[in-house]
Amino acid sequence: MKFLDIYSQDKPILNKIYKDIKKIITKSDFINGQKTREFEEEFAKYCKTKFAIGCGNGTDALYIALKSLNLKEGSEVILPAMTWCSTLFSVLQAGLKPVLVDIEPNSPTISIDGIRKKINKRTKAIILVHLYGDCCKFSQLKRILKNKKVYIIEDAAQAHGSYEIAGKKKNYVGSFGHLACFSFYPGKNLGAYGDAGAIVTNKKKIYNFIQKFHNMGSKFKHEHDIVGINSRLDSIQAAVLQNKIKKLDRLNDKRRQLAKLYNKLIDNKNISKLSYSKGCVFHQYVILSNKPEKFRKYLKKNKIPFGRHYPQSINNLKAVKKMFRKENFINSERLSKYGTSLPINPLLTKMDITKICNIINNFN
Ligand SMILES: Cc1ncc(COP(=O)(O)O)c(C=O)c1O
Repeated sequence: MKFLDIYSQDKPILNKIYKDIKKIITKSDFINGQKTREFEEEFAKYCKTKFAIGCGNGTDALYIALKSLNLKEGSEVILPAMTWCSTLFSVLQAGLKPVLVDIEPNSPTISIDGIRKKINKRTKAIILVHLYGDCCKFSQLKRILKNKKVYIIEDAAQAHGSYEIAGKKKNYVGSFGHLACFSFYPGKNLGAYGDAGAIVTNKKKIYNFIQKFHNMGSKFKHEHDIVGINSRLDSIQAAVLQNKIKKLDRLNDKRRQLAKLYNKLIDNKNISKLSYSKGCVFHQYVILSNKPEKFRKYLKKNKIPFGRHYPQSINNLKAVKKMFRKENFINSERLSKYGTSLPINPLLTKMDITKICNIINNFN
């Protein structure tokens, strides 16, 4: 049993991918090429946004998104205390001030009430991280934002295809913020064969800026209108993604089915489950054990692969610990200490999950 099995997952479409890559090499169409434009169009459509721009990776996507807002140095940006380090580092690299908010007690996403308590006149942006593929509660957030001029950036690195159900409507990840950032790191629900990322938006002005900024400040060859960076999605990665996006919804549904089975079958007083929203795409399936070290040793002994996402909340990362030493983020710290990610690779079968759950239920 494998935690992740990209090769087996992609095997049925590998020949098509090889053919596309061969064509790119034959035409020497590596950078700013046709495949990238095609994928950008398809990805915008998938996210239900007007524009998508490919870039080097998800970390760059966040940095580029923040730069596109043209905020004054030191402006405050709210983000959750439980996320991958890139969310925080991009804020610091853009010269902005990070303000951490705890996650909800029993869900992996940012506490909306926590945002309400920390939002002030200096708050210029909020980064909503759809952690583990679980969509943030955007409709609740909208109520507290009302007329405030605060930008919403979605960190959708783990949440391609996820949505929030609001009444009869589905709010798709990527479509409700001013901008949304995606990672196509190989292990993501939609993964390339190397580093890759994208930003989506409905705002033409933001799109025009990013089109130049991510390509050395240039839209047309040898015209450098602004100081930019080199962060592009290359044609080979775009071709891989173009083939893989066709299977994304099916694989996300498979992940949802496996998660449903976990929810139903895990039954052990030493284990607690998180509450995930209906539209969650389960990039990870994380449970909490009251004896985490013993539990992980037990899984290892029983040959159940597992992961940790993540062993430290953002405020406890060595690089930035000092910055947040006066604050506590109880739910984030609890999840990082007690949380263990179970295999949710879409190739797993009902039998695999039943076996894992039987083992988990015998843990004491
Ligand atoms: C929540 C989150 N944000 C940002 C990133 C950064 O993406 P990348 O690794 O492509 O730079 C990741 C990737 O792991 C992530 O999980």
